[in-house]
Amino acid sequence: MKYSKKKFLINAITIFPQAFEGLLDISIIGSARKKGIWDLQITDIKDFVDKSNTIDDKPYGGGPGMILKAEVLQNAYNQALSTIEESTKKYQKIMLTPRGKRLNQDIVKELSKSEGLIVVCGRYEGVDQRFIDYNELREISVGDYVLSGGEPAAVTLIDAIIRLLPNVLGNPSSLLEESFNNDLIEYLQYTKPRVWKNLKVPEVLLSGDHKKIKDWRLENSIAFNKKKKDR
Ligand code: ADE
Repeated sequence: MKYSKKKFLINAITIFPQAFEGLLDISIIGSARKKGIWDLQITDIKDFVDKSNTIDDKPYGGGPGMILKAEVLQNAYNQALSTIEESTKKYQKIMLTPRGKRLNQDIVKELSKSEGLIVVCGRYEGVDQRFIDYNELREISVGDYVLSGGEPAAVTLIDAIIRLLPNVLGNPSSLLEESFNNDLIEYLQYTKPRVWKNLKVPEVLLSGDHKKIKDWRLENSIAFNKKKKDR
């Protein structure tokens, strides 16, 4: 099959390349990669150790942990940039950090319209902020909690983006149906059997009345959405 859009390329800058194996190789995301819709390159920060053979150092001002050095990260970043042909402008350059803007579906949609991503994963207690500032990286967080590094956040971000690319979902109508398209969380779903552990499938879904079902689903998602906002 031929795809009109250019391959969506992602370069992940990390000290744990193996974190990107597994989830991104399976299911719809994995088969989209096999079909050539997107691809992932890894830039291993450990390949860019400096003269003192390190990638990190103690924080100025004291405190626990080690900070990834700006120059080491810059060399890795420059290498990642050099893998992108033509204009790099259409690539989004992202730093995954708990200090970033909280990811939501609007941001995911916007990123899926770019040509590709450079995704920098932080580690340890942090990275030298000057690296982020110098390169004007867009700081993104996947939630208000602290992970041990940016890798799980990067995999989450990549998954959310790739499924929105053209020809990735087997059934494009599931994207249309999808709650977040109109800012609603998806309605509740059921399948056989009709009764399970004494719990029944809502009657309306068995009615065969498509209008009623559609209305029920809409009401259901509006109600859920409201409850979620109030949480
Ligand atoms: N790195 C550590 N915690 C993170 C988070 N919540 N989001 C993105 N990157 C992170």
